[in-house]
Amino acid sequence: MKTERLIEPSTPAPPPSDGLRLNLGCGSKRIPGFIGIDIGEGSAVDVRMDVMEYLRSLPDHSVQDVYTRHFLEHVDGHHLRPMLLEIDRVLRPGGSLHIIVPHYSNPYFYSDPTHRLFFGVHTFSYFCEHSCLHRTVPRYATIPGWSLDQVRVGFKPYARPRLLGVRVPMLSGLLNSVVNRSTLGIELFERYLCGLFSIYEVEYRICKRRS
Ligand SMILES: C[S@@+](CC[C@H](N)C(=O)[O-])C[C@H]1O[C@@H](n2cnc3c(N)ncnc32)[C@H](O)[C@@H]1O
Repeated sequence: MKTERLIEPSTPAPPPSDGLRLNLGCGSKRIPGFIGIDIGEGSAVDVRMDVMEYLRSLPDHSVQDVYTRHFLEHVDGHHLRPMLLEIDRVLRPGGSLHIIVPHYSNPYFYSDPTHRLFFGVHTFSYFCEHSCLHRTVPRYATIPGWSLDQVRVGFKPYARPRLLGVRVPMLSGLLNSVVNRSTLGIELFERYLCGLFSIYEVEYRICKRRS
């Protein structure tokens, strides 16, 4: 695989006390203060490299925060846990992992032939010792010290119509505010209603506990 570092060697390295902030599979979505890693040529890419290869090149506990949006669904199922373990190795205690992925009820998820993995509200409960969700799941994939602190779901309208220059209120806006009021509301919505009103994406915030 082609590997190209776009960060010039002259770029000052962050002070050791700071910990890196990574945006994995960044595409063209730049997050200020985060290093964009991607195999593609998006405008936010700082390091053009396979994510797993890049993580393996980093020292233990060198990363403070990891952000990744609409990337993990491109990872093969049997590569997900090894990638999370690599993230765990590079994350500092107290560091955070912020993940956004399409929900399995999003019909567009299935249109993309490069999508390999689907996600539900409970997916990251399987990887976390502690979970903010109510439903308990088997513990066979747990990563010690990981805590799932927040889960949110996102709804999107098919179009965003305007009337006299003003955005018309859509059902998705109402669902975003009502369903996310409580984790129980999110879990019940997924269990009973996501076949009727599809969830566009799920967002998880995970913290690596200080031991
Ligand atoms: C759907 S795009 C998401 C881009 C961006 N995160 C966003 O939210 O708009 C998925 C990105 O993952 C990148 N990608 C897929 N597999 C990768 C890999 N193994 N290593 C690095 N990047 C990868 C693709 O090149 C693409 O830019």
